[in-house]
Amino acid sequence: MTSQIETKVWIVDKDVENLQSCTQIVDAARLIRQGEVVAFPTETVYGLGANALSDNAVEKIFSAKGRPSDNPLIVHIGELSQLEMIAREIPERAVPLIEAFWPGPLTLILPKTDRVASLVTAGLDTVGVRMPDHPLALALIREAGVPIAAPSANRSGRPSPTTAGHVHADLNGRIAGILDGGSTGVGVESTVLDVTVEPAMILRPGGVTLEEMEAVIGDVQLDPAFLVGAAETPRSPGMKYTHYAPQGEMWLVAGEDDAVRKKIRELLADARQHGRKTGVLATEETAPYWREQAAADVVFSCGSRYDLASVAQQLYGVLRRFDDEHVQFIAAETFPRKGMGMAVMNRLEKAAGGRIIRA
Ligand code: TXA
Ligand code: MG
Repeated sequence: MTSQIETKVWIVDKDVENLQSCTQIVDAARLIRQGEVVAFPTETVYGLGANALSDNAVEKIFSAKGRPSDNPLIVHIGELSQLEMIAREIPERAVPLIEAFWPGPLTLILPKTDRVASLVTAGLDTVGVRMPDHPLALALIREAGVPIAAPSANRSGRPSPTTAGHVHADLNGRIAGILDGGSTGVGVESTVLDVTVEPAMILRPGGVTLEEMEAVIGDVQLDPAFLVGAAETPRSPGMKYTHYAPQGEMWLVAGEDDAVRKKIRELLADARQHGRKTGVLATEETAPYWREQAAADVVFSCGSRYDLASVAQQLYGVLRRFDDEHVQFIAAETFPRKGMGMAVMNRLEKAAGGRIIRA
């Protein structure tokens, strides 16, 4: 257990001019240069950052999160000129993706240089790199003058944080500071794409969709480990851990609307009979039905079925609310695996630890 340290919270308005010279960013960047760990907002989720060129600094990320050290971190850059510090080579197929999606929620797996701290890559010969699309993140990285390694700023096994309050709840007393820039926009993490292989391979679905990438570079493949029931070990080491899990036991129920409702009612009735506090993860379209049925103790909507970006945005916050309410059994609806639905379903499956029922 890390000894308690005082965690500073700097509140920053992301729309102010000259962000890079505002005192909060200057203070946070100084701490990064001194080898400390600072949480900051990105457009996806909050990150827990440290100097990517220093093993001592990066070690503090792993101990603050309680993260296994065989799971590599993403390196964040603030300008393209920082790319050559960390990537040995840029495969040609990466160039149009960089032009189309950076800054943005796309992490590219590239051959690494020797300057990258070995703890960042967990011994791999590649490094995941992205340029985040958030003014605070960019100002922090530019002011620090070094690339910043950052996983999501949650305790290992908890849902990723989409507000500074989530970071504070998980990491207060364990990190030097938190830059509070309000809620993040996308809500799920970046897409991780291996561009060292042909065709490029999605290792983790995220904020940039398969369809969007195919429109730019043509064929893109999916890590076969995603196929339902796959025995393969995922190529992205982070995908093998139970992630994003709420404390309650969560079940996903897929199928036709009426069958799903019936199955969820049965599951809830059974859980209640066993004396468990129950919840439904619903949508704007279905939450009124569940409230009227009073079939569960709590009903949370995570957005509209017809706007999967809204679901991505709210998903992690809602999972945390089930924990806040000490819900012990959660039944969740599912979504089509198209567009943002691919990332949403991937995170739901992780949260449910693979418990999915076809109604
Ligand atoms: O949106 C995001 O990507 C957020 C924000 C903070 O940028 N970061 C994030 O980091 O989600 P993290 O550490 O929670 O997830 C990084 C993922 C893991 O699944 C890890 O295994 C994979 O990227 N990864 C990193 N480097 C890799 C590499 N060299 N090869 C394969 N997978 C890699
Ligand atoms: Mg994470």
